[in-house]
Amino acid sequence: QTAAFDIAAAEKGGFAHFMLKEIYEQPKSVRDTVNPRLLNGLPSLGCGDLSGVERVHIIGCGTAMHAGLVGRAAIERFARVPAEVHVASEFRYGDPIIGKKDLAVIISQSGETADTLAALRLAKQKGVRTMAIVNVVGSSIAREADCVLYTWAGPEIAVASTKAYSVQLAMLDLLALQLALDHGRISPHETRVLCADLQKLPDMVEEALKLDASCKEAAAAYAKQEIAFFIGRGVDYPSSMEGALKLKEIAYVESEAYAAGELKHGTISLIVEHTPVIALATQSKLFEKTVSNIKEVKARGAEVLLLCGKGAHVTEDVADHVLMLPDVPEWLMPSVLVVPLQLFAYYMAAERGCDIDQPRNLAKSVTVE
Ligand code: G6P
Repeated sequence: QTAAFDIAAAEKGGFAHFMLKEIYEQPKSVRDTVNPRLLNGLPSLGCGDLSGVERVHIIGCGTAMHAGLVGRAAIERFARVPAEVHVASEFRYGDPIIGKKDLAVIISQSGETADTLAALRLAKQKGVRTMAIVNVVGSSIAREADCVLYTWAGPEIAVASTKAYSVQLAMLDLLALQLALDHGRISPHETRVLCADLQKLPDMVEEALKLDASCKEAAAAYAKQEIAFFIGRGVDYPSSMEGALKLKEIAYVESEAYAAGELKHGTISLIVEHTPVIALATQSKLFEKTVSNIKEVKARGAEVLLLCGKGAHVTEDVADHVLMLPDVPEWLMPSVLVVPLQLFAYYMAAERGCDIDQPRNLAKSVTVE
C-alpha cells in the first residue's frame, strides 16, 4: 500500500494556501533581502554614488506602487530628496517632467508587467538613470534597467502579493538610507543605527505574525460585510491602500482607503450602523488626530478595528476591536503593519469561501496592456 501524495499540498508546506505560506515566509524574505545589502553596517546598494540625485520618480503597478508610496515617505524623511510616485500606466502615456539628474526607480515583483516595462523604457528614452527593484532574476525589467536591486522573496505563487511587498519596502528603506548618506543628510553613525534597526526587522515581522489568531477573530466579526473603509494618516495612508487592495483582491469586499482627514469631505456620508472601518494609527504624532476621526465614524455607528503600536494610549471605548503591533521604530511600522492587514484579508476571504490563491479576474503578472 502506498500513501497518497498530493504535490500541490506538499508545495504549500502544511499551509492551507500559498498566500498564507508566503505571509509566513516574510521574516526570511526580508532577512535575505537586507543582509546582502549591508557592508560594515552601512547600506551597500552597488548602484554608484547617489549624491547628485535631485528627484526620485518611483514607478509601479498595484502592490508594487503601494510599496513605492511607503518608500517615498522614507526617502523624503531621511534624504530630504523630493520623491514622486507614478502609476506605471499613467506615467507611460503621460508627459512626465523628468530632469537629467533625476533617478527613476522601477518596482516590480515579476519584472514583466507590461505598463511598468513601458514606463522603464520611457524613462530611459528621457535619458534618466534607472534603477529596478525586482524579484525575478533575469526578467525583462531587470535586464533593461541601468542597475538592478534584486529582492529575495523567493517565488511568489499566490496572485495577491504579500512577501514581495515586504521585501520591496525593505529595499526602499535601504535606498532611502543610501540616498540620505550620500547627500550628507545623516552621518555614518546615524545610518548604522538605522541599519541595525532594519536588521532587526525580520524578528519584528515574526512577532507581528503572532497576531494571526486575533486577525482571524476580527475577520469573523466582519465577514458578512460587503464594504469596508480603511483610514490612516501620514505613512499609514499608503498602508491603508494596501490593506484595502488585499481585501478587494481576495475577499471581494468593496474596500476603499482614505487619508483619515479627508473622510469628512464626502466619504463620511457612507458611514452607517455597522459599517466596517479599519483605522491605522502607528505614528505617535498623528495618533490623537486619527482617534478623533475614529470618534467621528463611531458616532455614526461604524464598527472600528484599530491597529496601533503597543505604546499607544487606547481607551476602552475607542474601537470595537484593537490589534496592537509589536514595539518597533516608527519608520519601520509599515513593514509590521502590513502583516495583520494581509492576515485580516486572508481570513476574510476564507470566511467568505473565496478562491484565495486564484482570485477571479486577476492574474499574477499582467503582461498585456
Ligand atoms: C498584478 C498582480 C499584483 C501586482 C501587480 C504588479 O496586478 O495581481 O499583485 O502587484 O500586478 O505586478 P509586478 O509583478 O509588476 O509587481
